[in-house]
Amino acid sequence: MDLNGIERLIAEMTLAEKLGQMTMSPAGSARTGPVRGEATTESVRAGGVGSLLNIWGREATDRFQKLAVEETRLGIPLFFGVDVLHGHRTVFPIPLAEAGAFDPGVWERTARQAAREAAADGADLTFAPMLDIARDPRWGRMAEGAGEDPLLAARFAAAKVRGFQGGDLASPGSLAATAKHFCCGGAALAGREYAAADLSERAVHETYLPPFRAAVEAGCAAIMSAFNSVGGVPMTAHVPLLRAWLREKLGFDGVIMSDYAAIEELIDHGVAADRAEAAALALKAGVDIDMVSNVYFSSMPEALARGLARMEDIDAAVRRILVLKLRLGLFDDPHRRTRRRRAPSDTAKKLALDAARRAITLLTNDGILPLGEKIRRIAVIGPLADAREEMVGPWVLAADPRQCSSILEGLRAALPDREIILEQGVTIKGDDMSGIGAARAACEHADLVILCVGEAARMSGEAASRAHPGLPGRQHELAEAVLSTGRPVIALLSSGRPLIVPVLAERARALVATWFLGAGAGEAIAEVLTGRFNPTARLPVTWPRAVGQIPIFFAERPAARPANPTDPFTSKYIDLPNEPLFPFGHGLSYSEIRLDNLRLGQEEFQAGDKVAVEVEARNLSDRTAQETIFLFARDRVAAAAPPVLELKGWAKVDLKPRQAKKVSFTLAAEELSGLDGALEWRLEPGDFDIFVGLNADRRYLLSARLRCR
Ligand code: BGC
Repeated sequence: MDLNGIERLIAEMTLAEKLGQMTMSPAGSARTGPVRGEATTESVRAGGVGSLLNIWGREATDRFQKLAVEETRLGIPLFFGVDVLHGHRTVFPIPLAEAGAFDPGVWERTARQAAREAAADGADLTFAPMLDIARDPRWGRMAEGAGEDPLLAARFAAAKVRGFQGGDLASPGSLAATAKHFCCGGAALAGREYAAADLSERAVHETYLPPFRAAVEAGCAAIMSAFNSVGGVPMTAHVPLLRAWLREKLGFDGVIMSDYAAIEELIDHGVAADRAEAAALALKAGVDIDMVSNVYFSSMPEALARGLARMEDIDAAVRRILVLKLRLGLFDDPHRRTRRRRAPSDTAKKLALDAARRAITLLTNDGILPLGEKIRRIAVIGPLADAREEMVGPWVLAADPRQCSSILEGLRAALPDREIILEQGVTIKGDDMSGIGAARAACEHADLVILCVGEAARMSGEAASRAHPGLPGRQHELAEAVLSTGRPVIALLSSGRPLIVPVLAERARALVATWFLGAGAGEAIAEVLTGRFNPTARLPVTWPRAVGQIPIFFAERPAARPANPTDPFTSKYIDLPNEPLFPFGHGLSYSEIRLDNLRLGQEEFQAGDKVAVEVEARNLSDRTAQETIFLFARDRVAAAAPPVLELKGWAKVDLKPRQAKKVSFTLAAEELSGLDGALEWRLEPGDFDIFVGLNADRRYLLSARLRCR
């Protein structure tokens, strides 16, 4: 099959066969949305389905594929799509945690491994990476993406696309990637899932689109439109963003699919009166594949008859879908992925452990960590202490949750000579406090308490918005009881988002964000607590003190009256500091690193220049460390108020004890451009501040001035 063959096929297809190609149906292995019709043998045999979702396992996919290839009139192969957000058989840390590694190599390797595993399980395409910028921890899907910053998410996007797709989409170990959810789901009203996002065009272009641009530039095969509306237009029908920006401006010629039942939901949005109108709107916006709602198949004929839809748009959609199948190598060998031997699992395990280590964020530590030799008796307390299944996080479909080691198991294996006692105290969500007494008693006899609290795995991810993103159930009471014993407490937080836990930040001797780490959880956590691994992760999101600070992120625009503690008429709360509990980029290690001598290679620059930025990093400790150094900038004066800080890059540096090293960045002039009035990226002459630091806390950044001619 080649492109000419595809044209011949299209010429031969009936309308129903074309609409069949544009239809993606669920096939039973998992439920990720409201139940609609499932693919049946008959619907596949009749050519009424072009792709299936949420199905894996060779037997199941091979059976459907055989049906499509051997028993439909034209023998067009299906493709199979699966959500592979943080691993398929092997569970890797949730994307938010993995983002904290600030390491594209890690991001790419875990995607590559997940692709191999999913492909061997019959998948051709994954509904990943998820690229929603998220600045609101009430929104549970923050767990699935790379956090709050467009540059971080853009680099994450490119690495994930490279990892999933490899060099050649037709390779049996590669999956087509789907960048989702296009766009602005993270800006949902009040953090409520599926709610409208009403934000300025500038914010859309400045903040929410850059990761999608990066995915497209990396060759991403598909894009999924988001459920939500943006500025009153549901994304499934968003002509300016889907057609004008994505297709025409960026030249994206891959497949666009709707999200689950989203075409039908155009009626709920109130922009379509019936299914025919919904079909026509989505097609017009450039949505090629109807995921689940079956609106294209059932109602496009009516839309055509009423003059709402055009046959040439249908042909263009079918062409893109068939080209994707061609690129996936499915016309040559529809069973190419399932013929492959499964990847050996020990490589995957090592990778999972490595990724887990690099995702653990040490938030506070008064020196109690790493654990010393004197600590002999440890009380491990809390509902997440011995909870393997909770370590997996929100998006595991095919994986066996028992592959994860629990925190307790990890500690027992790492510290065989210590006495370790377990008391759960309370359950994650329940109201029963009768176990708190026993937990308290266990603490009183211990040298140290490790308090394991947080969310259940499924309390983040899709349809998991929380108005109170703190400790659910009676865990707060448990924490208070444990802290009141006066024993030293190390708190470990399992979560898919920053949780509002100021009490743990203030009163625990150390606080560690362990997110949902996947297969390597217990072992990696033990390595960090014992100091066998010197923590390296940094926060990919700003961590609020209170729900009232949300949305919160470092790249905000200046207030009319910037906060001034001595002047009441300035931009601040009267009951809480403006500052977050922890800034973006925060993360401690067991070493102390100091930055000095920020130098720029030039004082003035112009378009096309590459400015060298150099800083000296010194390890003041006796431990080898890996530090992440962030490069930020601020345009001093621009036509549109420039954010107070914008991330321009980061560097990771390995430092031996007491070692000092020069760390260099290259800042291309274009990276300092901002959006002009017409929303085009443009460099404005004038002064910029260049900042370097260990996180986004502006009080501690080194700065230098750079002038654009
Ligand atoms: C989610 C998508 C997912 C799809 C298929 C939807 O509910 O929003 O992210 O890819 O289901 O499982």
